[in-house]
Amino acid sequence: MTSDILQKARDFEAQYGPHIPDSERPAFHATPTIGWMNDPNGFSFYKGECHLFYQYHPYSVEWGPMHWGHLKTRDFIRWERLPAALAPDERYDAAGCFSGGAVELEDGRQMLLYTGVQRGHNAEGFIQDIQTQCVAIGDGVDYVKQAGNPVLDAASLPEGGSAIDFRDPKVWRGEDGRYYAVIGNRTEDGSGAVLLYRSADGLEWELVRTLDRSHNQYGRMWECPDFFRLDGKQVLLASPQDMTPIGLEFHAGNGTVCLLGSYDPDTGFTRERAQAIDYGLDFYAPQTLLAPDGRRIMIGWMQNWSTVNAKPFHCRWFGQMSLPRELSVRDGRLCQTPVRELERYRGERVSHRNIPVCGEVDLPGVRGRLVDMTVTVRPIGQNSYRWFRIRVAKDGEHDTIIRYKPDESTLKIDRTRSGLHHDIVHTRSFFVRPRDGEIELRIVMDRFSVEVFVNGGEQAASAAIYTDQSASAITFEAGGSALMDVDKYELIF
Ligand code: FRU
Repeated sequence: MTSDILQKARDFEAQYGPHIPDSERPAFHATPTIGWMNDPNGFSFYKGECHLFYQYHPYSVEWGPMHWGHLKTRDFIRWERLPAALAPDERYDAAGCFSGGAVELEDGRQMLLYTGVQRGHNAEGFIQDIQTQCVAIGDGVDYVKQAGNPVLDAASLPEGGSAIDFRDPKVWRGEDGRYYAVIGNRTEDGSGAVLLYRSADGLEWELVRTLDRSHNQYGRMWECPDFFRLDGKQVLLASPQDMTPIGLEFHAGNGTVCLLGSYDPDTGFTRERAQAIDYGLDFYAPQTLLAPDGRRIMIGWMQNWSTVNAKPFHCRWFGQMSLPRELSVRDGRLCQTPVRELERYRGERVSHRNIPVCGEVDLPGVRGRLVDMTVTVRPIGQNSYRWFRIRVAKDGEHDTIIRYKPDESTLKIDRTRSGLHHDIVHTRSFFVRPRDGEIELRIVMDRFSVEVFVNGGEQAASAAIYTDQSASAITFEAGGSALMDVDKYELIF
């Protein structure tokens, strides 16, 4: 039975969603049917198709009582819209159906495991939420919340764990046929942890262990965890709140962290290394899936909580997902490359080889806002360049800048002049791995975003932009002299 609250959301999105013309949306990045989108939820395969749910408030472009929006895709590029899947319509989730995961059950049904938020008051009278984990089971379109909800509550927490910050289950089926879930939690020192739970049927859960804790080193509350094996390593992802920068590796505020290590079922997770997942302005709360062909694919919310008030005027949707990215571990680092299906949408190739750059250069056939372009830059002889910059989404007043400084080994992404009218941070710099002054940048643009993949995906940096679509020039500029190769494809839909 569809509740009135869910039916109202479905009617609303069916009535007003189609009013938004395709040209006002990204061509291949997932967006909400209407209104607000944050975290990806339930990114998983079900009956051979890839489903993506998302944190959703259809009625405005602001965060509000959380519903789950629903999309599916055959190729990670084109998204088909399905009716909203969950609404906050039960006592245990009346303040929101927060983030969670999805898994195909042994009997062929699809299970959603999500955080139900209940609003109450603390001893001082202030509003205080209680978070529990709840189950809804369905057929890929309609879901029934289970009578036994919540299936995990304060009684399931380890000692010192907070029932106020206990959220974002990511669920999968283990090789032993049991279901596993990682869940974010806050510990007694105020900072984050990831808890691992196990269940035979998805309804009765037991705590396995705490996998890792921040100890106030990598931010405070850890949101939206994920946990998987990849290329011989065990990978733990989390999105920490209140991050303190560590050099240029992590930026302040809402960050992302990838912990690489090993896992032993008897002794637990041993962390060997930590790195940021995305070094740009807009990326948070990523989730991964294991595709039937063995690829581990990640998608993130291409926004950041610190930048969400910066919206284009009169928008009817807000929030978009990143491009799904294929993950691998190389030289002890998490690497990301755009999902290979993107290449099917490439038009004609425009290629320029060994182009000397000294001052500003534009190249025939290199422009546009639906672009997949790889630029390789190297020094000319001994007289190396001091900086190199690529300006995209450019007209007389606007540009988004990607700048490389070989002496510092830093890359900077700057969207100060990219159609945002708020006085917020618009630039991020990060260290890239030195390669004797040479760097390879793959830049993917989709109307309202720029995603940069450095040196074959060793690092990624994402930014939402709102520059008018007529700003479509691309130029290259060097301080000193450089040589570059450019391979550019228009993306065609
Ligand atoms: C992360 C997050 C989650 C929560 C959701 C609420 O962006 O804060 O922890 O489940 O958003 O919309």
